[in-house]
Amino acid sequence: MKMVKIMMLCLMLTGLTSAVAFAMKHAPEERGKTLFNDSKFAGGSKSCNSCHPDGKGLEKAADKKEFKIAGKTQKSLEEAVNACIVNANKGKAIDAKSDQMKDMVAYVKSLKKGQAETKPAKKPASGY
Ligand code: HEC
Repeated sequence: MKMVKIMMLCLMLTGLTSAVAFAMKHAPEERGKTLFNDSKFAGGSKSCNSCHPDGKGLEKAADKKEFKIAGKTQKSLEEAVNACIVNANKGKAIDAKSDQMKDMVAYVKSLKKGQAETKPAKKPASGY
């Protein structure tokens, strides 16, 4: 009887950990990263990652109000992503409200975090 209980507990724990792992792997920025590395994304012929390795150069994109890609101005991150899809990946622009766009934007925004960590620590406002 005790053995059965232990086995049940083990099964439950295994289920729980894989559920957590699944959820983490499928966070929006993780899905965005998968798209970013996919050379067939949006019908294109190369991956975003081939020009922006590991998102390099996109660390400031999350805070930008205006972008300049291929001689044109884009007024949002979504437009910038689409500009690269069309001009760089040679794919087709995707709906700015689509899940794929949300995931891609989440990934680009997540690149900002690494930069924040390298900022010098703030000094206490007062005290000396
Ligand atoms: C052929 C190379 C190439 C590919 C492929 C490419 N990009 Fe770009 N991307 C550029 C260039 C060049 C710029 C403009 C110069 C710059 O600001 O770095 C740019 C700019 C951007 C910007 C604006 C950066 C900023 O801060 O102004 C974003 C966001 C971006 N790309 C996302 C993507 C995404 C998402 C993909 C995949 C769908 C992608 N790029 C694919 C070359 C590429």
